[in-house]
Amino acid sequence: MSRVKVFLALALACMVMSAQSQPVEAGVNVIPMPAEYSAGSGSVSSHRMANLPQKVRISEKALRRHLEGRELADWQLKSAYWLELGQKRVSIVAADEQGVFYARQTLRMMASLDSSLTCCTILDWPRFRYRGVMLDESRHFQGKEFVLKQLEMMALLKMNRFHFHLVDNPGWRVQIDAYPRLTKLTSWRPQAYFWDWEKNEIGGPFVEEGTPGAYGGYYTKQDIAEILAFAHERHIEVIPEIEMPGHNYETRAAYPELACSLPGGGRDPWELCPGKESTFEFLEKVLLEVFDMFPSQYIHIGGDEARKNNWKLCPDCQARMKAEGLKGAEELQSYMIRRMERFAHAHGKRIIGWDEILQGGLAPDATVMSWHGTEAGLKAVREGHDVIFTPTRYCYLDFHQDSAQFRPVGRLVSLEKVYSFEPIAEGISEAEAHHVLGLQGCLWTEHVQDAWHAEMLLYPRVFALAETGWSQADRKGWTDFQRRVATFSALARKWGYTVFPALPLNSTL
Ligand code: ACM
Ligand code: ZN
Repeated sequence: MSRVKVFLALALACMVMSAQSQPVEAGVNVIPMPAEYSAGSGSVSSHRMANLPQKVRISEKALRRHLEGRELADWQLKSAYWLELGQKRVSIVAADEQGVFYARQTLRMMASLDSSLTCCTILDWPRFRYRGVMLDESRHFQGKEFVLKQLEMMALLKMNRFHFHLVDNPGWRVQIDAYPRLTKLTSWRPQAYFWDWEKNEIGGPFVEEGTPGAYGGYYTKQDIAEILAFAHERHIEVIPEIEMPGHNYETRAAYPELACSLPGGGRDPWELCPGKESTFEFLEKVLLEVFDMFPSQYIHIGGDEARKNNWKLCPDCQARMKAEGLKGAEELQSYMIRRMERFAHAHGKRIIGWDEILQGGLAPDATVMSWHGTEAGLKAVREGHDVIFTPTRYCYLDFHQDSAQFRPVGRLVSLEKVYSFEPIAEGISEAEAHHVLGLQGCLWTEHVQDAWHAEMLLYPRVFALAETGWSQADRKGWTDFQRRVATFSALARKWGYTVFPALPLNSTL
């Protein structure tokens, strides 16, 4: 090839690369990408950086000087930081401990990924206040060490909400003193693999705790306290989910009186009876213990996939509907959720529910987790409610990420697909955008028995969710993200995480 042709080919390659890779400075090896980065002169080895003196200043006024008039919301200001990496010292300015924590996570990731760091200045703050991961502990139980390991990774990625799906049809996973059969019986089943236990959407038996070969487990109050302390140090809020009124096969197995007054509890074996006052007594007593365990602002009350067939036949449900002037089963569900919201409010909590809580009328202060798609979230925003987006097409991490993946489930949710998710859905105005709290990846575990399998589904897709949750939209770039994923995945593997080899690059949306 002639020199001119080589030059033209190189120029073309550069143009193509810069068109693909958008706004990235060479050498910023951090996930999520910070809001602003400027390279200084000189460099420092990562080994030396770890031993440099750190000058930390916690002062909103000082941080505002670095922000130079950039307008941040109060919650953003709390997480924001200014960081200067020099050859002789590291300086951090933040308005709150949280900002200092995030500055240190940035340093930690930079130092872990590169042996030589360019001296630099970083000014950084989050785009969304809710940057979450959900783990389903009911279908298969992973336990405390697994959870702590994932919280560590979340913290490094500046994620700040862990949604703990603790109870569901195939197993109850948290100690409740008022109702010991929930853990003495329905935390345990004879079959380890979920699908061996559940046939045709009807669950199998449970067995008493201590039965030889029983599969399961649960968190004691002491375990929960340890997890919460670990999460708190890492600025992660743990939000427990106590499902109602559907997904309650296990509670009904432990306490059959919670079912509708129909032969065998009715046709739907998953539902609680909202007609009986004793159902509310049960839920309130459970929630009181949950509130004592978890200091989170939110309690997730589930609300998804109740079929409601029993309620149309149950005399208690019919009597409740008549007494309350409710027009149908959907309004009966709404009655239940509103009533639980009042109870939560009386104890200083707010509720989150899956998007079915819109049916029959949304409880006044409820936050909606929009999972079917983004439409329900959009409707809730229109009605003035807060929303967390977890649409299956982008955020369901049990779905396969590659067509060749071991046990493909659901539709293809590739790394690129996850990365392409934009939480400010089309149709949400600037004035409404503050109702979009953020996004969450959900790891349902029907098919996921082993820890390595769970991690393979989480990573690297959680890296993508972290960047969408934290980084400003104009700081994202798929091409550069892949470079950072490649280096960070290698490091995470060295640390003992199982990371799916999602690259090479030619996946399609
Ligand atoms: C859900 O996936 N049922 C929330
Ligand atoms: Zn009933």
